Amino acid sequence: MTITGKKQKQIAVITGGGDAPGLNAVIKGIVIKAKTLGYDVLGFKQGWKGLIEDSVYGKLDLDEVENIHMTGGTILGASRTNPYQIDKGEEKIIESLKKNNCDYLIAIGGDDTLGVANKLYKAGVKVVGIPKTIDNDLSGTDCTFGFDTAINRAMEQIENLHTTAKSHDRVIVVEVMGRHAGWLALDSGLAGGAHYIILPEEKFDVKSICDLVKKRKEDNKNYSIIVISEGAKPVDDNWFEDEEEKDSFGNVVLKKRNLANHLVKEIEKRTGAETRHVVLGHTQRAGKPTAFDRVLGLRLGVEAVELVDKNDFGKMVNVRGTEIQTVDLSEALEKNRVVPVERIKHMKLFTRSPF
Ligand code: F6P
Repeated sequence: MTITGKKQKQIAVITGGGDAPGLNAVIKGIVIKAKTLGYDVLGFKQGWKGLIEDSVYGKLDLDEVENIHMTGGTILGASRTNPYQIDKGEEKIIESLKKNNCDYLIAIGGDDTLGVANKLYKAGVKVVGIPKTIDNDLSGTDCTFGFDTAINRAMEQIENLHTTAKSHDRVIVVEVMGRHAGWLALDSGLAGGAHYIILPEEKFDVKSICDLVKKRKEDNKNYSIIVISEGAKPVDDNWFEDEEEKDSFGNVVLKKRNLANHLVKEIEKRTGAETRHVVLGHTQRAGKPTAFDRVLGLRLGVEAVELVDKNDFGKMVNVRGTEIQTVDLSEALEKNRVVPVERIKHMKLFTRSPF
C-alpha cells in the first residue's frame, strides 16, 4: 500500500439512523482510500451516541474491512440518538473528536444524521456526509445505497404472495417501509405484480381499493395484492391517535400505527373478501446487499475521503446520473425527494387498469 508521506491524520466515522445494506461497503471504501492517502480511520459505535459517550469501536485497518462489503448491517452499529436533545450534546461530540485525535469526521446517514452533521459543520467540525436511506427519499442525490436491496427483498415477497392469495381467494395487504416517499412501494409493487399500490404522496381512498377488489372478483380473479407504504394516509378517516409516539428526531414511530391492519378491516367490511396483511418491516433492510449497493457503497466511501483530502467540508457526496458528485449539506437536506406525478400516473396504468 502506497503512503504519500503526509502527516498521519485521523478520520472519525459514524453510521447513524436505521441500518441499510451497503453501509459496510461504504466503510470499506473509506478505509481503503484513507489508508492509500496516509490517513488513519477511527470508528465510533452506534452513530452520534458513540461520539457523545466517547464509545470507540477502534481503528479500522485493511484486514478488518477486506470482506465486509459483502455483509449486511453496519460493523459500527447504529442508533437514532439526536445530540441536540441531549444536554451539551454538541460539546461532547467536539470534545470526543479532540480527545481521540480525530481531525475529520465522515457521517453516514439519512436526513436526521446529516442534519446533525451540518450543524456540527457550522460549529467548526470538518465534516463530510454520505447519504444513506433505504427509503431513497433524499433530494440531494438521485439514489441511495440500500434501496436496491430493499426493493428486491420486497419484490420477492410480494411476488411470492400471489400463490397463497390465489390459493385461498384472499386479498393480501403488504405494508412496506417508506415514511415520506413511496419509492419502495412503487418499485417493489410494480415489479412484484401488485394490483394496487398506495404511496404517501397521495392520500388513499378505501372505496377505490375496494372497487378494484370487486372488479377483479367480477372478472373471476378472486385474489388481489395491495401494496401500501407505511407513511400513507387515508383521505376520509382519521385512523391514527392524536398523540403518536415519536423518536428523538420527532419522527412518528410508524410501526405502532398498524396501518395495514386498519386497511384489512375496512376491505373485509366493504367487500366481504377474506383479507390478510403482511408487514415486511425490517426484512427489507436486513441481510446482504445487492451487487449494486455494494459497488455504490464502495464508490461513495472513496469519494468522501477525496473530499476530506481536498479540505472540502460541509459537503455530501451524491449520485447524479451514473456519476458521484458533491453538494452542500444544507442544499442536500432542503426537502424530501418524493415520487413525481408522472411516475404516479405510470403506476396507475399498471395497477388500476382492467387486468
Ligand atoms: O428511515 C428508514 C426506515 O427504514 C424507515 O423506512 C422506517 O420508517 C424506519 O427506518 C424504521 O425505523 P426503526 O428501525 O427505528 O424502526
